Amino acid sequence: SSDEESREEYLFKIVIIGDSAVGKSNLLSRYARNEFNPHSKATIGVEFQTRSLEIDGKEVKAQIWDTAGQERFRAVTSAYYRGAFGALLVYDISRKDTFQNVAKWLEELNAHADTIVTRMLVGNKCDLESIREVSVEEGKSLAEEQEFFFIETSALDSTNVKQAFEIVIREIY
Ligand code: GTP
Ligand code: MG
Repeated sequence: SSDEESREEYLFKIVIIGDSAVGKSNLLSRYARNEFNPHSKATIGVEFQTRSLEIDGKEVKAQIWDTAGQERFRAVTSAYYRGAFGALLVYDISRKDTFQNVAKWLEELNAHADTIVTRMLVGNKCDLESIREVSVEEGKSLAEEQEFFFIETSALDSTNVKQAFEIVIREIY
């Protein structure tokens, strides 16, 4: 019935990956709870948060998974990626090595993802302009080469955080 249709719900799993300390957990806490922690500890294992948004009058829930960038704190990899429809690959614009390691994360994503359709390359910490090591152009050209979306964000001052997640969620929907 139309009553049932109006209560229809969509649930999408999205994963966040990238080196330790690039700001994955803070991007998620900024998006899900509007919180930023300047002294956050490295993630151990896997955590997730959900956030709902309305698209075309339908409730869409994003279940966003966050894991440790540090190898020794990581949980079973294939379970992390299973069923994910989107991925945010995050680096820190003030640390070139984290950008170079995107290739490594991409390999892991390609090896384990079964369903992923939408990928977003995220250059986080764009508030740190004065110590930038990765140019916007470098980010853009990698994203073009891999056919990813691309955005620069700051979990600290909130720049583009909502957009980073919602471009992916809307694309999946
Ligand atoms: P792991 O859990 O170890 O993989 O790290 P992570 O990627 O989750 O990093 P986390 O969110 O814990 O942030 C690491 C550090 O960077 C913390 O001190 C944060 O406060 C800081 N940080 C995160 N995002 C930003 C940002 O946009 N700008 C600035 N200046 N600092 C940030
Ligand atoms: Mg973390």
